[in-house]
This record gives sequence, C-alpha cells and structure tokens, in this order.
Amino acid sequence: MKAAINRREFMQRSVVGAAAAPLLTHVLGHEAEASAGGASPNDRIQVGMIGVGARCLQGSGLLDAVVAVPGVQVLGVCDAYKGRVTRALSNLGGKAKDYGDYHALLADKSIDAVVIATPDHWHKPLALAALAAGKDVYLEKPMTLAIDEGPEMYGAAEKAGRILQIGSQGKSSKLQETAREIIKSGKLGQINLVRASFDRNSESGAWIYPIPPDADPKTVNWDLFLGSAPKRPFSLERFFRWRCFWDYSGGISTDLFVHLMTTIHYVMDATVPETVVATGANYRHQKTHEVPDTLNASAVYGKENFSVSLSGTFNSASAGESGFAIMGNEGSLVFREDRMVFTPEHVVEGNGWIVSSWPTELEKAYWADPAVQKKEKPDTWPAQMWSRGESWTEVGPDATYIHMGRFFDSVRTRRPSVEDGRTGHHAAAVAHMVNESIKRKGPVSWDFEKDVLKKA
Ligand SMILES: NC(=O)c1ccc[n+]([C@@H]2O[C@H](COP(=O)([O-])OP(=O)(O)OC[C@H]3O[C@@H](n4cnc5c(N)ncnc54)[C@H](O)[C@@H]3O)[C@@H](O)[C@H]2O)c1
Repeated sequence: MKAAINRREFMQRSVVGAAAAPLLTHVLGHEAEASAGGASPNDRIQVGMIGVGARCLQGSGLLDAVVAVPGVQVLGVCDAYKGRVTRALSNLGGKAKDYGDYHALLADKSIDAVVIATPDHWHKPLALAALAAGKDVYLEKPMTLAIDEGPEMYGAAEKAGRILQIGSQGKSSKLQETAREIIKSGKLGQINLVRASFDRNSESGAWIYPIPPDADPKTVNWDLFLGSAPKRPFSLERFFRWRCFWDYSGGISTDLFVHLMTTIHYVMDATVPETVVATGANYRHQKTHEVPDTLNASAVYGKENFSVSLSGTFNSASAGESGFAIMGNEGSLVFREDRMVFTPEHVVEGNGWIVSSWPTELEKAYWADPAVQKKEKPDTWPAQMWSRGESWTEVGPDATYIHMGRFFDSVRTRRPSVEDGRTGHHAAAVAHMVNESIKRKGPVSWDFEKDVLKKA
C-alpha cells in the first residue's frame, strides 16, 4: 500500500530531520520493540488533514510540521471553506487531493493517521469517527468542548489501541522539559503557588479576525461547520470567529488557559485539581462575544499541595504578565514567551519598623543579638536579591515540529503518546471547571473516581 523506505535511511533521517529532538533518538532506540498495529517501522505513514484553517496553514503550523517529518506524506485534506482547501493544496505543491468531506477521507484505507484542527465542537465526533476507522489521531487542543466528552474519547483510543495525541505543543519544548527537571530536583524548594495569565489587547488577539471576501454560502459549507451544534442561520461571524461563541468554544479558558494547564500539569507532575472557583465577565466585547473577555480563577491541587491562580483579559496587555510563574520558597521559575528565568529566593527578615516602636533599650538589645544580625542585614539585600539568577531561551525547531515528530514516533513504535487522551482531558477539564464555576457562581469539584466533574 505504501512506498517503503529503507529502515536505516529512515532512522538516520529521523534523527537529523527538522522534527528530531534528542528525545526522539531515545524513542527510536526502542524501535525493535514496536508492537503490532499502525504503520510498521519500514512504512511510509500516510496522513489526512481534517480542518485546514489558520492553525494548519500558518508558518510553522501543523501542515509544515507534518511535511517536515521524514517518511510521512499528506495524501489529502478536507475543510468546510473552499479557500482553505485551495491554499492547503497549493502549499502541498499540488501533490495532495481534496476529499471534500471527512467521511470520504476516513473511508480511505491508505490513510494511517489524521490531524484534526477544526473548531472545538467537532473534536469529539471527528476523533471518535477517526478512531473507529482505525486511524491514529493528532487532535488539536482543547481536546473537548464539554467536560464529560473526555473519558469516552480516551476510552475509545485505548480500546482500539490507537494513538490519540493532543496538540498542546508547548509540552514538547525543551524549556518545559528543563523546567520539569529543575522542579523535580527540588531547586525551587516547596512550591505552593503557580500564577498564570494570558493578556491581550487587540482585535486579532480577541479573535475578531478578518473574513475572507470570497466567503459566501457557495464557498462555505455551513451545515458541515454546524454539525451537531444548534441550528442557526448562516453567519460568517460564527464561522470565522467561532471562538467567541459558546456553541463552538469555551472562550479564553478552553482556548488559552488550556495551554497553561497542560504545562503546569506536566512540570508539576499534577493530574487535575480538586476544586476550582472562578469569576468571569464580558466588559468590552458584548457586541462580538458571548464568552467572557475577563477571567479570574483559582484551582486547588489537594494531593499535590499547591494552587494555581489563573487570569486573562482582552482589555490590556502592557502589564507584560502573559506566561506563568512557579513560586517556591527557595526560588521561582518565570516563563514569558520563549524565555524562562530562575531567580533564587533570598529570605531577608525586616523587623526594623517593628522594633523601632519598642522601648529604646529593648530595640538596642534586639540589634545586638548575633542571631538577629545574621538574618537581618538590610544594607546588603538588594545585591543579594538580583544576583545568581539563571535564564534559558528556547532554541531549535518550533515546539509544534517536535510535538508532531513525537506523534509520528508513537505511530511507528506504538509507544504511548507524550500527550495522550487522559492528559488532554485533564488539561481541558480545568478550563471547563473554570467556565462551570462561573456559571454556577461557586466552587466546583472533581470526581476522581468517575474522572469527571462532580454533579452540582
Ligand atoms: N496548538 C496551538 O497553538 C493552536 C493554535 C491555534 C489553534 N489551535 C486549535 O486548532 C483548532 C483550529 O483552530 P484554527 O485557528 O485553525 O481555526 P480556523 O477557523 O482558522 O480553522 C478551522 C477550520 O476547520 C474547518 N472546519 C469546520 N468544520 C469542519 C468540518 N466539519 N470538517 C472539516 N473542516 C471543518 C473550517 O472551515 C476552518 O477552515 C482549534 O481547536 C484551536 O483551538 C491550536
């Protein structure tokens, strides 16, 4: 069915290819153990892309990342807007076909794996249909539109023995791997709080995207877009700005917080919070958005002994706080874009203002105590505070390339994905808990036994 490539050639190309990171070398070292199912190590992997919108076609997006993996070929695509199909086929140099519709794509037995990058309301039905058709699946984040979809999806992948990888690519970045190692080493001491936020202040940041001038009922397949979502009249705003509407998205929480939560779970070795409490409001975008444009949330990890403070707004970005800080009593790790900074804690006591209110003799005696002199040296703290920090900047291929490379390594070796359905479910669950808490106007809790939200 496929043009086989020489096995040694594949391994060399994989290790030096754009998608290859050092960790891939390790996975390939176990190639001989690859079990039955999926593509054999000798075969070319053939791929279909379902939903070829901005995430797929942007520079260093999913399509580039798939094409960069040696031994992988895109056979065809499908999408609900003709303009995207035209662009995808052109980017593929005319060497792939338009399946028209996902049923036809999934029915093609020569396709081993699919990449799904549609709006979120299609994630579950498409992933289930692809798994049922025997395909391995790379599914964009957030894994789910609703919290209880997760167990059915990861259950289907596990039962079928297929790879289901979720697309929060940051997890495959070298920075996050380094952060996890640093945290595991104990360098940060006791970590009780992680602060994370996503702040934006632009129309494009708030998903009010330009609508292509050729979009109309002839070029846009409205029924295919809607699927099982509530029936509504044709709307280009809904089609191209779907993140603003509850039928297709969970807003800031599912679109943005989910990236933060995937990382936080990974670096902190945490699964899912016990409790989440959140508030949200739409202050500035009432004409364009159903979903809130400002969120604040707190997630409590009971077993792991820490909390996460999450916030996001579409009204201001100049505070420069997008990213997150992992705060330990011996040091902190701060992530902003592709940079991570470690700052050691220098605990300096400062009781001068308190003891200056004591009787003079007692204050003098306080400062004469050698133990006090040892821990309170106000004249030296600024230098201590700013010394001995460390920083790292991400280099090498975009994390999307590495994440995609790791997906295809799982496809070849049948080794579990680095971001499987359970991981994807738990990251998305936090986002849904945030929205549910806003809806219920109170805290929501996790049912660890059923792996879903506790009923109200
Ligand atoms: N990992 C990341 O960093 C990242 C970045 C952006 C988007 N995403 C995710 O990727 C997904 C797509 O986002 P996007 O920004 O590309 O949106 P988009 O609107 O640009 O693209 C989605 C595409 O899906 C198509 N589509 C809709 N229903 C379909 C169906 N039933 N069958 C086939 N095609 C269908 C639409 O026509 C559209 O072209 C979302 O889940 C989003 O959360 C992830």
